[in-house]
Amino acid sequence: MLDFEDDITPTAPASVRMATIAMNNSTDEHAYTIASVSTGRIRVEDKRIINSSADVNQLVPFKYKWAWEKYLAGCANHWMPQEINMSADIALWKSPNGLTDDERRLVKRNLGFFTTADSLAANNIALGTYRHITNPECRQFLLRQAFEEAIHTHAYQYIVESLGLDEGEVFNMYHEVQSIRDKDEFLLPFIDVLTNPDFKTGTPENDQKLLRSLIVFACIMEGLFFYVGFVQILALGRQNKMTGAAEQYQYILRDESMHLNFGVDVINTIKNENPHLWTSEFREEIRGLIQKGVELEYRYAEDTMPRGVLGLNAGMFKEYLRFIANRRCQQIGIDVLYQGATNPFPWMAEMIDLKKEKNFFETRVTEYQTGGALSWD
Ligand SMILES: [Fe+2]
Ligand SMILES: [Fe+2]
Repeated sequence: MLDFEDDITPTAPASVRMATIAMNNSTDEHAYTIASVSTGRIRVEDKRIINSSADVNQLVPFKYKWAWEKYLAGCANHWMPQEINMSADIALWKSPNGLTDDERRLVKRNLGFFTTADSLAANNIALGTYRHITNPECRQFLLRQAFEEAIHTHAYQYIVESLGLDEGEVFNMYHEVQSIRDKDEFLLPFIDVLTNPDFKTGTPENDQKLLRSLIVFACIMEGLFFYVGFVQILALGRQNKMTGAAEQYQYILRDESMHLNFGVDVINTIKNENPHLWTSEFREEIRGLIQKGVELEYRYAEDTMPRGVLGLNAGMFKEYLRFIANRRCQQIGIDVLYQGATNPFPWMAEMIDLKKEKNFFETRVTEYQTGGALSWD
């Protein structure tokens, strides 16, 4: 614990210490600096999303107001899993006739993906993406996003614990259930690129690697691989089943749509600042990756709903995934993959637009404990 009597006086002026850390650790001008070597005043025109030499410790003047606004919106939407009452879910799960076997399989496999997916997301941000984004307002959002991923993992753990599920079974599904493992194995190489300590941006080849990984993370992981799972639990909620879990997923969906929109803005800004990266070969490669993502997510839909459940069936998800894949293509400016695909779940749009004051399932019962939990003794 921090003792405020401790002497924490720096041994050298802060500007000297930070510049030293930066220089000692750097092998080139785009090393992952704690501070800029430059001690000159920051100029907004020097700020760039990648490969910037502007001081990353000076948040202002802002260049990318969209990043700061999304950070503020994320803070305004703060929530915690324990705020949501899970008692109706617990009663339903324990009741022998509360849910069908197919519904139970769906809930477990759904959690089997999500319980580890958000840890993967958090590690990708904290150990990978964050180092390579050289802009403080974007980093501010990434710090918030990393915490939100922790809250999501907490929410899934809280649901598993509330229902008394076998934790070993659920948390190991990403090793043991093929349709979940396939999704994660698709993602891992793109995460590994960024978390490799030897990886540095600054060449066209490596900048493309970063851009590819950012697109896979935002548009395929957060923008596609989460959506079968979101629809399933929200569809249960709409039928008045698992309403606590559904409310948690609503808040998570709202956070994730902000993550996706932030990712899209980052991708498009990197494209604009580095147009040489956005070649026709690269765009074709991205289309292929999105198509592969649709196939993997569809297989997951079939595996979680082998007989159709809740008035949903895997075929509806095929159309839905094609519809949102087209949307992801449009968001980053590549040709759509599936002409004429339509949305079989129009109600999902209102779920994404949830405002904090609107509580769809109306089960929220607890208040924040801020302030009351703080003790100076
Ligand atoms: Fe998340
Ligand atoms: Fe996310």
